Amino acid sequence: KSHNVWVSRPLFPEVLDHLAQYVGVQAEATERKHTAAELREKLANVDGAIIGLSDRIDSDVIAGNRRLRVIANLAVGYNNLDVPALTAAGILATNTPDVLNETTADYAWALLLAAARRVSSAERWLRAGNWRGGMRFDDWLGLDVYGKTLGILGMGRIGQAIARRAYGFGMPVLYHNRSRLPEDIERECRAAWVEKDELLKRADHLMLVLPYNAQNHHAIGKVELALMKPTAVLVNIARGGIIDDAALAVALREGRVAAAGLDVFEGEPAVHPALRELDNAVLSPHIASASADTRRAMAQLAADNLLAALGHGPDAGHPPSLLNPEVRGGHETKT
Ligand code: GLV
Ligand code: GLV
Repeated sequence: KSHNVWVSRPLFPEVLDHLAQYVGVQAEATERKHTAAELREKLANVDGAIIGLSDRIDSDVIAGNRRLRVIANLAVGYNNLDVPALTAAGILATNTPDVLNETTADYAWALLLAAARRVSSAERWLRAGNWRGGMRFDDWLGLDVYGKTLGILGMGRIGQAIARRAYGFGMPVLYHNRSRLPEDIERECRAAWVEKDELLKRADHLMLVLPYNAQNHHAIGKVELALMKPTAVLVNIARGGIIDDAALAVALREGRVAAAGLDVFEGEPAVHPALRELDNAVLSPHIASASADTRRAMAQLAADNLLAALGHGPDAGHPPSLLNPEVRGGHETKT
């Protein structure tokens, strides 16, 4: 085989088999976070790599690497990649957009419904053997979802998939995004653009679907939480660091925000201890895109990107989801 690749984590065997038809594959057998030194060493002798969100690829990791041609991220978000540094080094970077839109949108609704209707805490209470004396008429009272106004902060393709589901719940949709959607898409999503502050004030429930970057760090902090309705549920399926988790824990404890459904955390896998104490927070370990079909599709897309970048397979030379097309041309001559 003319190329060798590294896969930083366990992956579906059929995807690894597919890769192995074209390239030499070295795949890790266990899931763990690699240090910069480990990444530098692993990437030194391969032509490409499939990596996960916990692997941070920056200029330090690729410094002096003359061989590496492609980094394929196993995620749509790529805040773990320093794309300008990869571009400067002539290394292609790819992600896994679109294949996860619908599955991720489903999960945003799962968190909203679970947090509003207290599914997780009710189940903990039941499993602990507390349920005696029949159905409790005036206990476990939650918040309605249907008919309320849904707010969506960040209206990319996942935000739009969330918005389309709101119709079935009879929910008007307000959104805020740096750029307004084209009118036909606004109409299809039945969503109206508003300023961020207005969104925070008017949303009965709010979903966060922003990419993480320096501008979006703590996009929801103390000030923003104070604008929200005390009956609102806040859902984050995007990235840790978009919410100031310490400030959210205070708001949830004081009832200034009713409940939260959180799939991502600042500094995950660590979760702010104050959040773990709260019954009105539904917490999950970054699983929004984790249906079997979608995770397999993401792995397959990452493999297709990697192979195409190395000149193999049906898309040879044209990775389907290239993040830095400006590298193109440059990498052909790289030896
Ligand atoms: C998951 O968080 C992703 O970005 O795909
Ligand atoms: C967020 O990650 C999006 O792509 O909308």
